[in-house]
Amino acid sequence: MTVDLKHDPERACAQIFNSAIAAAAISAAWDVGVFDELRSAEQLNIDEFAVRRGLDTGATRAVFAALADADVVRRSGGHTVAGPNFAEADRTKGFFYWLTRGYGELFGDLPRLLRQENRSGHFYRRDGAAIGIACRQNNEVFFDPTFQPVLDSLDFSEIADLGCGSGERLIRTAQQRPGVRGIGIDLSDDVLGLARDEVRKAGLAERITLVKADVTALEEQAAYARVDLVTSFMMGHDFWPRERCIASFRRLREVFPEVRHFLLADTARTTGFPDGDMPIFSLGFETAHAVMGVYLPTLDEWEGVFGEAGWSCAGRHLIDTPAASFMFHLVPSRR
Ligand SMILES: C[S@@+](CC[C@H](N)C(=O)[O-])C[C@H]1O[C@@H](n2cnc3c(N)ncnc32)[C@H](O)[C@@H]1O
Repeated sequence: MTVDLKHDPERACAQIFNSAIAAAAISAAWDVGVFDELRSAEQLNIDEFAVRRGLDTGATRAVFAALADADVVRRSGGHTVAGPNFAEADRTKGFFYWLTRGYGELFGDLPRLLRQENRSGHFYRRDGAAIGIACRQNNEVFFDPTFQPVLDSLDFSEIADLGCGSGERLIRTAQQRPGVRGIGIDLSDDVLGLARDEVRKAGLAERITLVKADVTALEEQAAYARVDLVTSFMMGHDFWPRERCIASFRRLREVFPEVRHFLLADTARTTGFPDGDMPIFSLGFETAHAVMGVYLPTLDEWEGVFGEAGWSCAGRHLIDTPAASFMFHLVPSRR
């Protein structure tokens, strides 16, 4: 949204306020099935939808009012149809879920989190499972079209996914490649609980192992000895600052002695967008990490670490949404 504050500040601030409500409404609408339903049916009746889905009618009407204010839906009489922003909100709904469910508590707590005296120990809270759900969605829409063809071109038998989140990438890969085994490593109990449920539901508990560990300081283990493909999606920035990233990436070659490919995908810190022109997600992503005290490297900074860390870049894929996103195909450099 580009808000022209010079012209009508009153209207502009109303829009800023209302868009915050619309963001929560898009996230909730996804959760309760509005997008699926409106995508397949031409219209829906809000009260009937609420009753059928076990929702409170008054609250559901209010959510639709917020969606209508943002032109995601249009209401007329008893019927609701997709609005001009429906398709794009459907495509980007994972970002709204990330913002309002995953990081809702952190943004709500912003005044406290700004103060130096409150910034020690585990000083912020976010919802790891909700972030895992949002990332699964954003992977499917924004990263998989780049990831899948590269994966299809590789020969591998054992994959380790660093910061595996919901486990979706391992599950899908194991389903596509019947002989392949997977190891998911993450340090969040919430997200490992979600991944464990999904792996069990997919009937893959025999082939996918989930491990709780900090991937920036992995210990050698017999279970890692045969891993020939390492992946890491949407968490690469957690390896930084630079010296730590170099040390961790070097360490990956010792912990996974048979590794032949490392697919690393993440969103970098944007540079060069003027105020008022930030694309979707970037402002939230960069603000949240600044508040958490997590350094976000730029694309140039990323490209400057691989050589020192013992990896060569065999493929460089840039992704436009989220802005400044990438997938690097790394291979071990010769020692
Ligand atoms: C944004 S989510 C992405 C999840 C998943 N890779 C995906 O693409 O859907 C980042 C994940 O990395 C995990 N993570 C962050 N730092 C980590 C670390 N040092 N060691 C292990 N996991 C980490 C988080 O717990 C979270 O599940």
